[in-house]
Amino acid sequence: MHIMLDNDTDFEGWRKAARRLALNDMTPSDVTWAVRGDDELFAASGIDDLPDAPHATFNVPASFVELARAAILHRKDERFALLYRLVWRLRSHHDLLHATTDPDVAEVHAMARAVYRDIDRMHAQLRFREVGREHKAHYIAWFEPEHHIVDAAAPFFASRYADMPWSILTPDISAHWDGHAISIASGVAKSDVPTEERLEEAWRRHYSGIFNPARLKAMEPPQAYWRNLPADSIIRPLLEDAMRMTGGDCAPGTAEPHAPQQQQDTPMARKDLSDGIAALREEAAACRACPLWKDATQTVFGEGPRDASVMLVGEQPGDKEDLAGHPFVGPAGQMLDRALEEAGIDRAKVYVTNAVKHFKFVPRGKIRLHQKPSTPEIRACRQWYERELAAIKPDLVVALGATAAQSVLGKITPVNKSRGRLLDHDGTKVLVTVHPSYLLRLPDEEAKALEYQRFVEDLKIAGSLLRGAARAA
Ligand code: URA
Repeated sequence: MHIMLDNDTDFEGWRKAARRLALNDMTPSDVTWAVRGDDELFAASGIDDLPDAPHATFNVPASFVELARAAILHRKDERFALLYRLVWRLRSHHDLLHATTDPDVAEVHAMARAVYRDIDRMHAQLRFREVGREHKAHYIAWFEPEHHIVDAAAPFFASRYADMPWSILTPDISAHWDGHAISIASGVAKSDVPTEERLEEAWRRHYSGIFNPARLKAMEPPQAYWRNLPADSIIRPLLEDAMRMTGGDCAPGTAEPHAPQQQQDTPMARKDLSDGIAALREEAAACRACPLWKDATQTVFGEGPRDASVMLVGEQPGDKEDLAGHPFVGPAGQMLDRALEEAGIDRAKVYVTNAVKHFKFVPRGKIRLHQKPSTPEIRACRQWYERELAAIKPDLVVALGATAAQSVLGKITPVNKSRGRLLDHDGTKVLVTVHPSYLLRLPDEEAKALEYQRFVEDLKIAGSLLRGAARAA
């Protein structure tokens, strides 16, 4: 069978086809995959002609679905076939993903990692420049991703630069933000860019074209939240920053929003847009980088002294934290407080935050049942942890549990493997330990006491560092 997917990132199309193929016992060697437009010479086989077998079913681990969502963004043509081969094998070998030396498993993990790295690179390196004047200002950027990551990376920019209309042009597709929604349109030929004037020219041509609804794919329902942000909260610091970099005279508070730049080709720095944790907190209150904000009461941001030498990172706010708006104030927080005290650490001297800043739950009657955040949610929220880290610059980050370790170390990290020793991550010392709610869940009192003691011992490592920092000061 020759399966034709709608586009390079058509995960839902692949998933539907893979399910139907597997239920019809189509072996991986009997299936070829292509993307519409690449391979029109071969007619697609009618996947819809295969019976859907709605009552037959099989399960793959949720972690595979997450892995496949990332790996499908890889540029290798063989990704669809590899993923189907894994589906096929997972049916009879449910633990296959743990077999890390298996070549298919190793390859899918490597692909997902490459995709995540590429998304991080785009988030870190992309530079917008202002075009247009006065009320017509628009920000454009050119980027060449290695993989098909633009739709996945774009919500980060919508959240971070919510106030400014922008376009990101790439050879594959372009993403446009109008302050309400992201839309995806065709790419721009590499030969049209990237000199600065060509970029502007290419964008003008392109932008008039995207109002053709046939070429538009809206990614998100319109959201009007950006209107509620304080006026100029993002554009003004950006402009001030750009003016400073070009030697322009632009004292704080006197910049005209959308004033012409002194040098048209000055890239806008993607540095911390705000001054200090209070401004970050205000910005994060309007974060829409993942859907968790919809059901949560509020963003629960980090708290603690600006000069803290230790930063504690938890998973996400729980029910109590969501209502109170402060981290670690519920049962896990009480357990943490007790352990900190026994480890000789004054909580008032550490900065406490979470990897994910909105409460994720499912309602069960009157109760809101905690749900573990997914990798995309952790990744979407990581910008805030990174910016807290850059603002606080602690000597040590303590990751409490697997979600925190994943966010802090930028990859899935089993707690038991890294627990209790100092790691170095990009120049930051990191200590991984368990999450206090793990201790609360242990059913056996003896195990609970033992594990609690180990937790305190781990925290003592942070305590001795704190005391060392105090002495040095
Ligand atoms: N669990 C966490 O990880 N963080 C909190 O703030 C509360 C519970």
